[in-house]
Amino acid sequence: LRKDPERYIPEWGRKYGDLFMVRMPMIGEAAVVTSPDLARRILVNKASCYQKKSRSYGVLRILMGEGLVTSEGDLWKTQRKLVQPAFHPRRLDALFSMKAERVNAMVDELRASAHSGHSVDLVPLLSRLTLDIISRAMFSSDSQGMARDVSHHISTLNEWALRALRHPWLLILPRKLPLPGTNEMRQSLGEMERIVTDIIRERRAHPGDHDDLLTMLLAACEEETGRGMSDTQLRDEVMTMYVAGHETTANAMAWILYLVSTHPEVEARLHEEIDANFPDGTPSLEDLASFPYVRQVIDESLRLYPTIWSLGRCCTEAHELGGYHIPVGTNFLIPTFHFHWNEDVWENARAFDPDRFSPERRPP
Ligand code: HEM
Repeated sequence: LRKDPERYIPEWGRKYGDLFMVRMPMIGEAAVVTSPDLARRILVNKASCYQKKSRSYGVLRILMGEGLVTSEGDLWKTQRKLVQPAFHPRRLDALFSMKAERVNAMVDELRASAHSGHSVDLVPLLSRLTLDIISRAMFSSDSQGMARDVSHHISTLNEWALRALRHPWLLILPRKLPLPGTNEMRQSLGEMERIVTDIIRERRAHPGDHDDLLTMLLAACEEETGRGMSDTQLRDEVMTMYVAGHETTANAMAWILYLVSTHPEVEARLHEEIDANFPDGTPSLEDLASFPYVRQVIDESLRLYPTIWSLGRCCTEAHELGGYHIPVGTNFLIPTFHFHWNEDVWENARAFDPDRFSPERRPP
């Protein structure tokens, strides 16, 4: 299953139905759902019967602590309320010119490579771009030294997380065993925690006049109690933004560019829309509404190549699902990619067709 989910999940779905158990040596059991209806029941209708404490979130918890992606229940609710204002459109608009400026700098770099005839591997470039943008949005930091360190540590942590997700038995072996990548992971995690904690302490001591996400998070406090976040909680949220926002966005951009470059008719329509509507000067967040076809291309690329291709949940309250009794503790694998490639849901599902998301055809 881990080696070739794209083959086995649809194959077993056809053979065993919408809900079946997979038993993995040393790791245990997982229930797999292969119908979007059951996925909706787990993630939406019956969400209160589930938590994210499945195996994959255990890996993320090592990196992100109890940030928004991994926390549960009351802690998640409180944190969600505290963090939400930092992502209000007005705030994001304030960061937009910084993002546009970083993208322009990368485009200049690419243009120079194109003129000199050098080929460029876009994936590391996009990874660097997203990390740079997250650091600047979070800390107003453009310190090259720190960006280089953070980039190295986050890459090490991402590689380790991917390895641990592919080989979960690594997690049940004693932590002290010198397993490949484990020492580097521990070192990078320690370094990242130190960097983030130092920045938080420094900012608490000398708030200054920064217009960044850290300022918002430091000022956020619960309405009823006036309590803000502890340094540890803040560090977990910052680590969460780095880990959750970095490769997801970089890989999504890489797939978008790949798909556009292999579909000249889509590329031509993008040029047409962008040339007709690009404002004088730097575009703002509001201007994005003038580019509906760009949005369609992004949505369709994320459908075809979802950068988070599966979700995990663990049942915390026994109930009935798809005609089966689900006991507490059942681990679920919810394979998003399988729904995105489902011919019952999408006609000609494996074709890249941004017009599926046009106003006339966009699914409800
Ligand atoms: C194309 C890019 C992205 C994709 C495909 C993506 C995908 C996802 C998915 C599928 C979840 C739900 C996980 C679950 O419920 O188990 C999620 C949650 C989350 N993502 Fe992203 N994400 C992207 C970019 C980002 C960025 C840029 C950030 C932050 C800088 C971010 C921060 C978060 C956070 C904090 C959560 C948890 C939200 C909550 O539970 O309150 N993500 N993301």
